[in-house]
Amino acid sequence: MKEEIRVFPDAPSLAQAAAIIFMETVIKATAGGAQCSLALSGGRTPQDLFRLLAEADSAQTNWEQTHFFWADERVVPPEHKQSNFRLAWEAWLSRLALPPGNIHRIRGELPAAAAAESYEGELRFFFRGKSLPEFDLILLGLGEDGHTASLFPGSSALEEKQRLALPVYHAGTANWRVTLTLPVLNNASRAIFLVAGVAKAPMVKAILGEGEGRPQYPAGLVKLRQGQLLWLLDEAAATGL
Ligand code: 6PG
Repeated sequence: MKEEIRVFPDAPSLAQAAAIIFMETVIKATAGGAQCSLALSGGRTPQDLFRLLAEADSAQTNWEQTHFFWADERVVPPEHKQSNFRLAWEAWLSRLALPPGNIHRIRGELPAAAAAESYEGELRFFFRGKSLPEFDLILLGLGEDGHTASLFPGSSALEEKQRLALPVYHAGTANWRVTLTLPVLNNASRAIFLVAGVAKAPMVKAILGEGEGRPQYPAGLVKLRQGQLLWLLDEAAATGL
């Protein structure tokens, strides 16, 4: 695993750096007509990134060869305000004129177990012929408790070695979610943690600072098998480093 920490002055420059990496990844992955596979996260942090990508010159990028998945989703209908699909669709994807088959959302309108099974099937079909999905890029956030995607501290989902996607109940928000599992996250060609704000600084320090704090937290268990892991931080989130 190649791991790199990059710190930016503020949230706008952080989003711009992430947007450039997204574009670079898509252009490289779709060269020669190949497909690109991206997995997006939800939350507030990626919103600036999605809006920047929406403004970028889409004509220069093979979005029609790009397939969009999610790292996790809340078990709510796609039009629900908490839907991670809806966040990305409204801020960005709706402007790309993508073929409908390029959007592989987690079907949050189903019961959690059914949504996870359906997503597992979609992943295994799209990445058929591979032992594990190998995303070109996975976008991840960091919770103040050290979670990422919907892998929360103490969750049995952290031990999963076979399934690609699991239903998880998050007591903190009293809702069900579906999340990619660590074997999938760690098999990506590239993963980006996008972390902004001073509230995240203690957890960033616990995971990336000196000492043995890393393995205690789900985000600290993201260690790509062969890919490139980038921690993109603003100065506020990097305060403790
Ligand atoms: C979700 C996200 C989650 C998020 C972190 C950080 O569904 O909420 O996938 O893992 O990335 O909670 O969220 P913020 O960017 O809002 O701080």
